[in-house]
Amino acid sequence: MNIRNLHLANKVIVAPMAGITNLAFRKLLTRYQPGLYFNEMISDMALIYDNQRTWEMTHILENEQPIAFQLFGSKVETMVQAAQLLDQKTDCAVIDINMGCPVHKITKQGAGSALMKTPELAYDLMKNVVQAVKKPVTMKMRIGWDQENLNGVEIAQLAQKAGIDTIYVHGRTRAQMYSGTSSNEKIKEIVDSVNIPVVGNGDIRRAEDALTMVKETGCAAVMVGRALLNQPWLIQEIKDGFDGKETDLSLSIPQRLAFTLEHAQELINQMGEHLGMRQMRSHALWAFKGLPHSHTIKARVSQIAKYQDLELIINEYLEAFYSR
Ligand SMILES: Cc1cc2nc3c(=O)[nH]c(=O)nc-3n(C[C@H](O)[C@H](O)[C@H](O)COP(=O)(O)O)c2cc1C
Repeated sequence: MNIRNLHLANKVIVAPMAGITNLAFRKLLTRYQPGLYFNEMISDMALIYDNQRTWEMTHILENEQPIAFQLFGSKVETMVQAAQLLDQKTDCAVIDINMGCPVHKITKQGAGSALMKTPELAYDLMKNVVQAVKKPVTMKMRIGWDQENLNGVEIAQLAQKAGIDTIYVHGRTRAQMYSGTSSNEKIKEIVDSVNIPVVGNGDIRRAEDALTMVKETGCAAVMVGRALLNQPWLIQEIKDGFDGKETDLSLSIPQRLAFTLEHAQELINQMGEHLGMRQMRSHALWAFKGLPHSHTIKARVSQIAKYQDLELIINEYLEAFYSR
């Protein structure tokens, strides 16, 4: 698929996830080569105020192209200004506008999915950003604010009119947050309502889910989020599935936990041990999720402070359950 004149080598896109899709995690994903990477959402105001931490979020690796940088904000002028900064001062290939984030801290400012409640402002914002930058501009949204306000089609058509190049749709409403299920039916309505590419997103946990989503919705590509936390190889399995091959690339439990240690090391390289290991707590909990006997170590994992703490927990776990 193409995003304007940018050709994606395959139809698997990494979903933006705040606190997760930072440089460390994306580095681990490079071995599976998705069609498009995403970083974590970036505040328009933080870029404009020259916040150093925020600018660090725009660092990318040479081999993780193409990558989209996602902006959140609710004012036309500041979103335009921030988009121009990304356009001129970073190597991202695509600029994305966040109109899907359900978190109260974001929506109370009128940003993220709250923009779906103000279609005129959303249109103005998209149109002005598109006109202000050279790079392709995309938009990520949900199917509506709640069951009574399923206006995904209206917003998609406004996006097309505003010159947006591609839309990513998570098949849930804002009110659902992450509960219930993502609706392929609603994604299809949006796919059918516009001529620009629409990427489907929501609840893809196996290659088969991606194939079903494409079949049921006609979406141009798929975007995968949470499942990558404990099965990053899913990217390759979906690519294989699109090529008509059924593959099982799942790692053994010791390999998975070695991957978790690698992730911890990358986070430490990126942000130091103190912050890195704090962030690693939730990643490690995800990594252990569903593994046999993992309940025995959950409490310890949620308190790790040093790399050695995690290494010890993993070694003891493997020793107890996987040594002969
Ligand atoms: C921890 C977390 C952080 C997220 N952060 C963002 C974000 O910064 N921007 C965004 O558009 N969506 C964000 N999302 C939503 C995902 O991009 C995706 O739409 C959602 O998880 C559904 O896809 P999945 O079922 O494959 O996970 C986040 C989701 C999670 C779980």
